[in-house]
Amino acid sequence: MDYPLLKDKRGIIFGALDEKSIAWQVALSAQKAGAKIVLTNAPVAIRMGKTKQLSEQLDTILIAADATKTEDLNDLLIKSIEYLDGKIDFILHAVGMSPNIRKKREYTDLDYKYFQQTIDVSALSFHKLLQTAWQLDALSPQASVVALSYIAAQKVIPGYGDMADAKTVLESIARNFGYYYGKKNGTRINTVSQSPTVTTAGSGIDGFQSFYDYAHQMSPLGNADAESCANFCVMLFSDYTKMITMQNLYHDGGFSKMGMNIDSLSNE
Ligand code: NAI
Repeated sequence: MDYPLLKDKRGIIFGALDEKSIAWQVALSAQKAGAKIVLTNAPVAIRMGKTKQLSEQLDTILIAADATKTEDLNDLLIKSIEYLDGKIDFILHAVGMSPNIRKKREYTDLDYKYFQQTIDVSALSFHKLLQTAWQLDALSPQASVVALSYIAAQKVIPGYGDMADAKTVLESIARNFGYYYGKKNGTRINTVSQSPTVTTAGSGIDGFQSFYDYAHQMSPLGNADAESCANFCVMLFSDYTKMITMQNLYHDGGFSKMGMNIDSLSNE
């Protein structure tokens, strides 16, 4: 798919840790579609992961920012506008982490300090980003901001733990900030609810392989992979979707609309 949908557009991509990251694929697709981008990730992720390698591959800059710190976000936005030589046309928020999941704490036995960190990193960081950009007037008219979500925000997926609550807050922030940004300058704010995808964050969830397989069998199109999610994000960043805002858009091969799929049982 080599359409220059993002020609002359400037964007910031959060969360490309390694090749498996959804954000990694979004960065590749956005640049292929003609965009100029800045990459960002948490300082510790930059030390441990491969974000720097991607910035070299794409010949762009990488700016360290902890998405929970408004001063880092402020610095990121100012430096990005300077480097890209103009206001920001699109942003991908692909940031998520739950210490409760990492430490295998069940939903019925959550550590509340960890819970606050989950919400702070995976949901409030999105509000902080949008509010910092608002105060700096960093987004160009009709810009597009996308955050990645998961269907556990609507339906119970045991094992997804406190991330389910974080995704619910994330989607609510997209809806509410979408109102204010729409009125301000036509900026669109949406979440994309993606199929289970084999990544570092995804695979950290207990029983991930089972619900990956289950979703794959239930969905008429199967699970959507990171590459197709990236193409969908590019479309949402483009001028072809200027009237879509405040939505949670399922990119899941049809999973969210399924009730029962007897075929999936007989295939076992
Ligand atoms: P990933 O592990 O490759 O990406 C998560 C990213 O969040 C990493 O790059 C990590 O460094 C970054 N991050 C964590 N704490 C941060 C902080 N304080 N500041 C800045 N960045 C921070 O995994 P994946 O799956 O690509 O995750 C991207 C997004 O997609 C997440 O929001 C995740 O919840 C969401 N998602 C993932 C699905 C999956 O099955 N993998 C399904 C649906 C949504």
